[in-house]
Amino acid sequence: MNIQELWDKFGKIFRDFDLESGAYKAPGRVNLIGEHTDYNDGFVMPMAIEKEITMLAQLRPDRKVKFYSLDYDQMVEYDLDSLEYDEENIWANYIMGVIDEIQKLGKSLQGFNLMFTGNIPQGSGLSSSAALEVVTALAVTDLHKIKIDGIEMALLAQRAENNFVGVQCGIMDQYISRLGQKDQALLIDCRTNDYQLVPFKDENYQIVICNSRVDRGLVDSKYNERRSECDQAVEFFAEKEAGEINALRDVDLETVEKYKAELAENIYKRAHHVVSENARVLESKKALEADDLQKFGDLMYASHKSLSEDYEVSCKELDILVNLAAEAEIEGARMTGAGFGGCTVNLVKKDQIDQFIDLIKKNYKEKTGIDAEVYVSNPGEGARKL
Ligand code: GLA
Repeated sequence: MNIQELWDKFGKIFRDFDLESGAYKAPGRVNLIGEHTDYNDGFVMPMAIEKEITMLAQLRPDRKVKFYSLDYDQMVEYDLDSLEYDEENIWANYIMGVIDEIQKLGKSLQGFNLMFTGNIPQGSGLSSSAALEVVTALAVTDLHKIKIDGIEMALLAQRAENNFVGVQCGIMDQYISRLGQKDQALLIDCRTNDYQLVPFKDENYQIVICNSRVDRGLVDSKYNERRSECDQAVEFFAEKEAGEINALRDVDLETVEKYKAELAENIYKRAHHVVSENARVLESKKALEADDLQKFGDLMYASHKSLSEDYEVSCKELDILVNLAAEAEIEGARMTGAGFGGCTVNLVKKDQIDQFIDLIKKNYKEKTGIDAEVYVSNPGEGARKL
């Protein structure tokens, strides 16, 4: 549906109050490199993808909020003064969480209607939920003329997920959905929350995303388990080493190796992943700036190996997808996002794309019985008002 058709639909669903209204978009993301580093104060390098959520919104003269999901064809209604977790309509919690965080800033809101639709595949690690949070934050603040900068908005959306939805995610997904830029990856320093643009527009290469379509049932519990293992590592190093160690960001590989024998095996492996991954992100930035895509591709494979063997967040299907890419001599491939299913990100020469997609679809199906989905995407724009 184009935007006019969406407004027509909005007009059929909701009464027109002739109050402030607007249309907004926020994208999903794929992380090029830097996995499970954001909550360790480290570095990540994601890009926004050309798949998005579009939201239409209008103020109401009362204290009701009504959300309509066009894709689910579901309508929910709440009161601004009593927002509570909705066990039945899980999707609505991402929106309520954002409203709750805006109210916590001491901003007084009035009621509004929202309608949204999107094409980010859900539950596949491409951050459709972060996009929903970010587009909501943009819509609600804009309707109420609340000024909040991009980074603050990303942090607010992250708090919505941490506090209301109850998932202890880092900052990466909301950040890139809010601040992504066309033809650019972002190198984000998750300690200072600063970013640098990394141009990603080599004419000869394209990012290809392969969706394993594996159910990510384990992801939340394992995610929290990994976070706590990282905390244990930090505690260990802080006790042993002089100087301030507040996060794995403050530890180098030499130090990790020095204590290998003393550390529990799982803690050593988790620390080894995070510390080496941070270094890979910084090297990747240099490689991309030097247009050395081969080097970048090698770093992607190294990242996957580390995630699979040291961090242990891959799964059989993701490993199969990466191995298929390696066998076809694709420049780079790795799992992306939290893991335990979801997608791989691949760096593919443009003239190999069709062949690569055919090969993945055929061989992945043969090996797993699952039909992979494949998306080709340039780095897209971050959240914006239309
Ligand atoms: C999820 C989280 C992010 C990040 C990644 C792993 O996508 O939401 O904050 O931790 O996993 O890199």
